[in-house]
Amino acid sequence: MKAFASDNYSGIHPEILDAIHNANSSHAISYGDDTLTTETNSLFEKHFGPVKVLYTFNGTGANVVALKCATLPFQSVICTQYAHIHVDECGAPVQAIGCTLVPIATEDGKLNPGLIKPYLSAKGNVHHNQPRVISISQSTELGTVYSLEELKILCDFAHANDMFVHLDGARISNAVAALDVSLKEATVDCGVDIMSFGGTKNGMMIGEAVLIFNKELQQHADYFHKQSAQLFSKNRFIAAQFKALLSNNLWKRMATHANKMARLLAEEVSKIEGVQITRSTDANGVFAIIPEHAIVPLQEKFRFYVWDESTLELRWMCSFDTTEEEVRHFTATLQQLIKKHH
Ligand SMILES: Cc1ncc(COP(=O)(O)O)c(C=O)c1O
Repeated sequence: MKAFASDNYSGIHPEILDAIHNANSSHAISYGDDTLTTETNSLFEKHFGPVKVLYTFNGTGANVVALKCATLPFQSVICTQYAHIHVDECGAPVQAIGCTLVPIATEDGKLNPGLIKPYLSAKGNVHHNQPRVISISQSTELGTVYSLEELKILCDFAHANDMFVHLDGARISNAVAALDVSLKEATVDCGVDIMSFGGTKNGMMIGEAVLIFNKELQQHADYFHKQSAQLFSKNRFIAAQFKALLSNNLWKRMATHANKMARLLAEEVSKIEGVQITRSTDANGVFAIIPEHAIVPLQEKFRFYVWDESTLELRWMCSFDTTEEEVRHFTATLQQLIKKHH
């Protein structure tokens, strides 16, 4: 039985695995100067327009490289208190760049100009770190999705205040599938300057990409990439996966399915007495509170994490390979556990 712990628990989509296999012929030029990488770069351009692409091993690496391109050591990155860069990367961006992260409290995992404004009074004061980047996650760590309007407002606000927008897109495919627009419309067209584009959570074996739209941030990017230990000698095997992901709508097919399973899960469990859905299920994550006695027995059958130990709010993630049957089995098991106790 599959887990609902994380989309990282999932395996590799067969089309991706085939792509790795097909890339495994003879020799190719190393460090991204091979034809597969060139073709994949062109495919990124087809989806996003002009962009500089850097491939990385993981999401933390992508975020570190992206933020390094956009920040000097005396500057700061504004994010939410839930941001992966703040709570789940062991301080990697701070250690690698020397910049400060400024986490802001948010109800729904999103930032907006009203929340950020109070922090901009530090600008120009030599005693304070200088806000330079607004980093957002799309979809957010709370499973919510910024609308295009919200993104545009935030990007306009950033640029009006001489700041860049970094988008942590570990789950960008889920967000864009939910918005049902193109990748370009949901990112660069809204004004995003630089982003981390996720692959691993959406059916890839390994690899993420930094997409740099803003020319100013492209300047030293290759050196930051190498210095961050993220330049893969056999890059063709990451590129091959992205080529498959970006072809035949695979990214969208997988993300749409994961989102659909999350919606089904939220709908089904919310029919059970004592279960409360706590966040808007915009993408592939469901957040809920259930009777406390049911948590551990349910975890024994399906792995998942307690998101917030203080409120016992749970997080259930769906993946490209979650099935309707598994969602229904999960729901029935939860219902039985709650009933048994009464
Ligand atoms: C919002 C977000 N960003 C980035 C990442 C990438 O993390 P990793 O370095 O484990 O690939 C994750 C993975 O959990 C994530 O949820």
